[in-house]
Amino acid sequence: MSTKTEPVELINPSEAVTNAAVIKNYEEVYQRSIEDREGFWAEEAKKLQWFKPWTKVLDDSKKPFYQWFTGGKFNIVSNAVDRHTKTWRRNKLALIWEGENGTTRTYSYHALNREVCKFATILKSMGVKKGEIVTIYMPLIPELPIAMLACAKIGATHSVVFGGFSIDALSSRVNDAASRVVITADGGYRRGKVIDLKTIVNSALQDSPTVEVCITVKHAGNAVTMEADRDFWFHDLMSLPIVSMNCETEVMDAEDPLFILYTSGTTGKPKGLVHTHAGYAVYSATTLQYVFDLKDEDRFWCTADPGWITGHSYLVYGPLICGATVVMYEGAPNHPYPNRWWQIIEKYGVTILYTSPTAIRALMRYGEQWPKRHNLSDLRLLGSVGEPINPEAWRWYHRVIGGGKCPIMDTWWQTETGGFVITPLPITPLKPGSATKPFFGHEVGIVDDQGNDIPAGAEGNLVLKAPWPGMARTIHGDPDRYKSTYWGQYEKQGWYKAGDSARKDSDGYYWIIGRTDDVIKVSGHRLGTAEIESALITHSDVAESAVIGVPHEVKGQAIYCFVMLKPKLTGSHELETALKEHVAKQMGSLARPEKIQFVDKLPKTRSGKIMRRVLKAQAMGQEVGDISTLED
Ligand code: WT7
Repeated sequence: MSTKTEPVELINPSEAVTNAAVIKNYEEVYQRSIEDREGFWAEEAKKLQWFKPWTKVLDDSKKPFYQWFTGGKFNIVSNAVDRHTKTWRRNKLALIWEGENGTTRTYSYHALNREVCKFATILKSMGVKKGEIVTIYMPLIPELPIAMLACAKIGATHSVVFGGFSIDALSSRVNDAASRVVITADGGYRRGKVIDLKTIVNSALQDSPTVEVCITVKHAGNAVTMEADRDFWFHDLMSLPIVSMNCETEVMDAEDPLFILYTSGTTGKPKGLVHTHAGYAVYSATTLQYVFDLKDEDRFWCTADPGWITGHSYLVYGPLICGATVVMYEGAPNHPYPNRWWQIIEKYGVTILYTSPTAIRALMRYGEQWPKRHNLSDLRLLGSVGEPINPEAWRWYHRVIGGGKCPIMDTWWQTETGGFVITPLPITPLKPGSATKPFFGHEVGIVDDQGNDIPAGAEGNLVLKAPWPGMARTIHGDPDRYKSTYWGQYEKQGWYKAGDSARKDSDGYYWIIGRTDDVIKVSGHRLGTAEIESALITHSDVAESAVIGVPHEVKGQAIYCFVMLKPKLTGSHELETALKEHVAKQMGSLARPEKIQFVDKLPKTRSGKIMRRVLKAQAMGQEVGDISTLED
């Protein structure tokens, strides 16, 4: 077990930050939130609009299938859109969007409501029913949140599949959700190139028999093949006379599903985590409000794609519920030049930037001269998410981007948690590289495999000891897997196992180390090694493979594959390139392996399990350690 001494530096908030902060006394509010957890969340829930109030804040009678605000009638869209159209915010900008090619579009809350209503009436006319799962596969364009909100408005469950995923990943997700309707775009821009999304959808749908309707937004203008009776253009539908702004927001039960979002786990099959209307709304809005201290003057830029949970909670739902102005940018951070992001911050007067360590490390490499060309003084808060941020990148972000005056909110959370769990508030004294302390209502443990507390400074499993409103309710179609994956190991104690290892220092600050399962984080994106292995095996030359994550300077982790070829075949440079291309084509370029190593045999235990530890040591040129259980 490793122990490590943390850097001693402590960065205290400035007077300006403290004066502006909503919460000035973390300890006091935290204590109260722990002593009366339900009271704390009920108070937050009261700030939202309900068709009918709840009868019970927390129902734990079916634990670990916890339920929140039961008996309540609610729709997240009445909070994220409808209510703002009845106040001065109807004229406030909800979305400021910039495309990679420089096109811009803005939507007031009034306009957002109009587009959501119109698209909702189209979905209804296509027979979309309450509870059915609609798959959305789009680039980062305004129609993406519009489609999500339109689904939620009429009570359909959305499943957004990241536009960077490819054929196999898409069709397996569509099939698991048994979607009848898919919403996509012709293409999206990335570094000046057009990613041909509709062509990927067309291939994926060959293996997805449930799909009857595919709606395509014209965005990149690339040539696409449309299939008669199945494929419709979004703009054609939006101009039909049946389309109207009169679309009621469906009255939902608090616990009705809002979306499913697939994420990678230990096995090859991705997990469709289910989030609900009310608990998720309360949680995403409360965490955002307190951690980023949102004010009406703010312009909040979350660089995440809605294909991931960060985009769901902090690009779409959280900020819109809070009535914020959200900045969205479609393309690459360094296109056409490495100043693109800094230019966007200056141009739109962004006050809060929420991004990933990978992006910071990548932009840091181009040097300070790029941000220095721009006036970034509107920024008042910064955020980081997705993977641990190394102190060097933290300090650069703080000094160069934040001008030394913007606290960095290093937020630890997961697709499963729905929102921030370990995070600073603007007033928290910061330690570079630490996500600091638990958010309100959370008790976070660092324990061994049996559940005993691990002493300060030592590494252990991260567990959450109490339920919270934003927690995923189940895995779509597989409640047993939900129960065993997250609640199995500490069933006796009733704790949620996060799958991360972490340390807590003597000041009570948490330091996240990384995943303890076969999940890797490439540029902050969560990928299962088993999924990459399944993609490799579909290549005709591959007999078996084992995939691990190895440290990478910019991406955090990179994909390293050990490949055993079929008999009589030998590895070559050409085959290495072909296999990398194969994985990228099947899964998406984010899963493109960094390295393929051909081997004659994979190290296995006598029971047939691949010893990844041995492979990791080999890939990194380290000592292999104890191999007494190795087969031979
Ligand atoms: C995993 C969850 C949280 C939204 C985006 C990722 C890692 C996340 C941090 C952080 C260190 C972090 C963990 C976690 N992670 N945030 N601030 N510091 N590690 O969601 O794709 O579900 O991944 O990301 O390993 O378990 P996700």
